[in-house]
Amino acid sequence: MNSDGQIVAASKPFHFLGKKEDIIQAERVVKSVCERDVLVLYHQGDFYAIDARCYHAGGPLHKGDIEEFDGRSCIVCPWHKYKMTLAEGEGLYQAVDPSVKPLKPTWCSKGVKQRVHNVTESNGDLFLTLNDSPGAIDSDHYQTEKYRDTFMKEGTK
Ligand code: FES
Repeated sequence: MNSDGQIVAASKPFHFLGKKEDIIQAERVVKSVCERDVLVLYHQGDFYAIDARCYHAGGPLHKGDIEEFDGRSCIVCPWHKYKMTLAEGEGLYQAVDPSVKPLKPTWCSKGVKQRVHNVTESNGDLFLTLNDSPGAIDSDHYQTEKYRDTFMKEGTK
């Protein structure tokens, strides 16, 4: 472990998030890791980590509801109700094919819009590994200092 509380293994550091039981009890926390604000969630027995500000316009996802759409757990942004899968960060929307009667909305994917990260457990502690995959993901835009300041002033509760 280095002086920043990181366990460095192979090429990717593991950032200490907290005690597993504490995060289960809280259900959601926002952590700043390497100048990135990440929402860590406990939902139905699994942990998820997702960029904390919505890819659409920077909405505070820590205030969003979690709902199931098309059998997938999603967070719903409180600002304009965009839906993102917790596991992949895919933006979901409903579409209707007007040539098919009766009209029936189906769920479609916009692709990955929100960067998701990896949570691992070790001896009752949780660690985050940032997803540093190359190529921009839309939510990266709201991880700049400008939005970070606004977000942190609003608070995370
Ligand atoms: S900011 Fe999230 S839906 Fe618009």
